[in-house]
Amino acid sequence: MSTPQAPAALRVALLGCGVVGTQVVRILLEHSEELTARVGTRLELAGIAVRDTSIKRDPIVPAHLLTEDAEQLVQSVDLVVEVMGGIEPARTLITRALESSATVITANKALLAQHGPELYETADRVGVDLSFEAAVAGAIPIIRPIRDSLAGDKIKRVLGIVNGTTNYVLDQMTKDGLSLETAVKDAQELGYAEADPTADVEGHDAAAKAAILASLAFHTRVSLKDVACEGITSVTADDVAWASKSGHVIKLLAICEQTAGGVSARVHPALVPLGHPLSTVGGAFNAVFVEAENAGPLMFYGQGAGGAPTASAVMGDLVSAARNRLSGAKGAGESTYADLEILDPGEATTRYQVRLSVADKPGVLARIADVFAANGVSIETVTQAPRADKHGAALLVVTTHAGTEAALAQTVRQVADLDVIEEVMSVLRVEGS
Ligand code: HSE
Repeated sequence: MSTPQAPAALRVALLGCGVVGTQVVRILLEHSEELTARVGTRLELAGIAVRDTSIKRDPIVPAHLLTEDAEQLVQSVDLVVEVMGGIEPARTLITRALESSATVITANKALLAQHGPELYETADRVGVDLSFEAAVAGAIPIIRPIRDSLAGDKIKRVLGIVNGTTNYVLDQMTKDGLSLETAVKDAQELGYAEADPTADVEGHDAAAKAAILASLAFHTRVSLKDVACEGITSVTADDVAWASKSGHVIKLLAICEQTAGGVSARVHPALVPLGHPLSTVGGAFNAVFVEAENAGPLMFYGQGAGGAPTASAVMGDLVSAARNRLSGAKGAGESTYADLEILDPGEATTRYQVRLSVADKPGVLARIADVFAANGVSIETVTQAPRADKHGAALLVVTTHAGTEAALAQTVRQVADLDVIEEVMSVLRVEGS
């Protein structure tokens, strides 16, 4: 029996040639021989689609491969790597590529979080791979571990620091006592934060990643609109200082959970206890902490952004998808068999730490405790100290046991309305304990 011969080369198209695209080109060209050995045939860079071919680029990028005709390019290759970002034209080009039977590798989290299902369906119908390791947490292998390595386990919870910009900002606030504004400005000067940092500081980037992680972890379609999202804009230097005093650090977390009622995905700043592995993740690094029924806790740590780290994840997908193409195999497609209910944000379970400035007189603590009790929220700890800066006032810090977001939020609203409360100084969720 004769073995089918491998083609002399697999043709690869690159869509986008920014920071990540340039590094993909470099790796493809510099490691061509090793990649050929690993795939079983040569990966030929057939074209690089860009918006404007006349822009000056890194000399590693072969000028003769640049084209502005992305539509034509994606229909004449075996594999398409999309690193252009944004919804359009990426969505149309990926669809065209899949319909032309090309395998697609994308780093586009926003596109997957909003339009993933239609793209997965097209890929499944045509019978080609659609891979996206680089879409979540840059270089960190997390898509494949969740989809393949843990395919025989049951994931209960995923806690992720999946946005490097906000982690850098919060870390600077923690280490140097900076205000949020100054820390964001420093991050912009160092190139960690964009000129317009909205997508990062408002949590939108992390929310897209949470939708992707929750869908994979729970075999249920979770899209961006299902993710409750709060950024870091209301975190103050005072909150960060208090976090340290109470044995915590503030992190922007993407939290994906499966409970008896269904699944939830949310992004918000949270107090993480200093003993938790996520508390040690500093600078612009990312980490994803996975809790699985049989594996127990797992932590994946590394660089979540940047040209070479993100290109590493893209290349891993490219090699793997190229091998599949050669052997006629197809990797796992979208898995939605569980189709679990997506919980209303108010049904998610968390713990609160509430800092209150209160009148220091008899009966105050009892009235506050009454509100917690009336809402079925159990208090775990209470600390009180007179306010040195305000005569007759005390600072009260209440930490709760787990409760629903709805009950905890209602408790805080009702406490805030009590006439003995001078100010609700901060409300932060506590996660990871
Ligand atoms: N802007 C993101 C971050 C990287 O700061 O982590 C791309 O998702």
